[in-house]
Amino acid sequence: MCGIVGFTGKQQAAPILLDGLSKLEYRGYDSAGIAVRDGEKDTEVIKAKGRLRILAEKTNGGESVPGMCGIGHTRWATHGEPSERNAHPHISNDGNVIAVHNGIIENYQELKEKLLRKGYSFYSSTDTEVAVNLVAYYYKKYGESPVEAVRHAMVRIRGSYALALMFRDYPEEIFAARKDSPMILGVEDGESYIASDVPAILKYTRNVYYIGNQELACVKKGEITFYNLDGEEIEKEPKVIEWDAEAAEKAGFEHFMMKEIHEQPKAVADTLNSVIRDGKLDLSEIGLEEEVIRSISQIYIVACGSAYHVGMAAQYVIEDLAGLPVRVELASEFRYRKPLLDPNGLAVIISQSGETADSLAALRECREKGIRTLAIVNVVGSSIAREADNVFYTLAGPEISVATTKAYSTQLIAAYVLALQFAKVRGEITVEQCDSYIKELQTIPDKIQKIIEDKERIQWFAAKQANAKDVFFIGRGIDYAISLEGSLKMKEISYIHSEAYAAGELKHGTISLIEDGTLVIGVLTQPELYEKTVSNMVECKSRGAYLMGLTTFGNYNIEDTADFTVYIPKTDPHFATSLAVIPLQLLGYYVSVNKGLDVDKPRNLAKSVTVE
Ligand code: F6R
Repeated sequence: MCGIVGFTGKQQAAPILLDGLSKLEYRGYDSAGIAVRDGEKDTEVIKAKGRLRILAEKTNGGESVPGMCGIGHTRWATHGEPSERNAHPHISNDGNVIAVHNGIIENYQELKEKLLRKGYSFYSSTDTEVAVNLVAYYYKKYGESPVEAVRHAMVRIRGSYALALMFRDYPEEIFAARKDSPMILGVEDGESYIASDVPAILKYTRNVYYIGNQELACVKKGEITFYNLDGEEIEKEPKVIEWDAEAAEKAGFEHFMMKEIHEQPKAVADTLNSVIRDGKLDLSEIGLEEEVIRSISQIYIVACGSAYHVGMAAQYVIEDLAGLPVRVELASEFRYRKPLLDPNGLAVIISQSGETADSLAALRECREKGIRTLAIVNVVGSSIAREADNVFYTLAGPEISVATTKAYSTQLIAAYVLALQFAKVRGEITVEQCDSYIKELQTIPDKIQKIIEDKERIQWFAAKQANAKDVFFIGRGIDYAISLEGSLKMKEISYIHSEAYAAGELKHGTISLIEDGTLVIGVLTQPELYEKTVSNMVECKSRGAYLMGLTTFGNYNIEDTADFTVYIPKTDPHFATSLAVIPLQLLGYYVSVNKGLDVDKPRNLAKSVTVE
């Protein structure tokens, strides 16, 4: 998500920090900052909201901030709006500790309350400032030893983090700690580097150490010492990085889309964990009061593209679990059709970027009509997030590839969570039922991981489909919603014409397009609709179609009908979209790669559609 750079050596730190941060620019960010120490003098902290260029201008390319030891950060907001105040580095109340952080501290509220009781105060709304003060608290408590302070804080912090910290009493040293967030440390010619991603320091060194999970390090000029969580020193061998700079930005993947497909287990788990405390749903940060949930008479889901497809899947889940009528609308249609809205309705606007012009206009339309609005958004502080009454942030991190994958997957999670909350509050399911749905949801990241691990089978199949002229995706109910997204993934990056059809609707016209060898992909994850969709697949086969079946393990009789089958792990049918979409993302991706197309930047498309 965010980017971290650190340096201690014989050169001026600020230009190296700014240069390193610029190499992380592809990740996207909303603010940046550096902290630089000139010998024994106090650390200078400079931050700026917006692009890195603004920070570079403010510091004259780093030249106006002397000092040979420093840390820097580019922020992708997760807690707290993008602003200079919330930008990193953050400093402790007593000024002893300054730090930058990547990741999410799940128990930051609890830690903040503890620190507030001990007299600490907070100037920002970030979880990082809480971590910094926690380290400062333990620094005082454990003999002013940075290693002791950091390791005690690490024991208390739940969640993920990569931390780079500077202590007032240690002018030339940086301390680093990591759990579940990437971080590497490099050494070259009497100088040391820290980075959250390889490209940030590749220009300066290829000799790096990988700091392990729950390990910490003391970084001096050209010398790094590692410790485990018990504070014991551990030995590490440096590794030589062979990647070229561009490959490094993609963490070794050929395209951002593939990288982002692989990031889905984490993105889904992060989004889910952000609303679960001790196994129970906790939507207090979203702030949709229970009285409001009880009074809702109708839900309007409004979105564009893949986000609209999330709405389609959500419609089935919310109606079925919460017993609430749901209408899903394309934002570009909704805004001009003079919608008649129920005053007790709730409008749910789904958008990765939070800037899509039609979705924003639809949101404004709802607000003008006095309808309560809830946004499911990935980019913190974006226009839709700012203007909605309530916001559910997905924690997908920056999405670079134009074709969405991980943002879509996290939007689905947000939709399921809302369905469960509505169902529970309105008494449609018991607390026990809700808990058991949550348990099932918590298995989704591992199941996605398993599907991704089997990607070579899809790759093999995709190679044979690269010359396809038309592809049809068919399914019923939730499987229709999955088909819509599968079809969009295929057409937008492979330029193969594809359509998604409600399987029962084929006979009303479309079936005349099926010719010998036309690829038809049947999606069959819903047990009660399975036989019906199989029948529709048979109808296509008898007109010459080549069939792919996408279904759950156990439904092996699909092989009597389909020419090629992909199985996904079993889950509750409400949540099947999260699993079934993965092979379809992979299929679109591999067909595109086979055709030698620009996967990450398909022609005529933009990542964020800010015009109508
Ligand atoms: C397709 C895709 C688009 C977006 C759509 C909405 O892969 O990414 O269809 O889903 O443009 O964008 P956001 O979610 O930013 O409002």
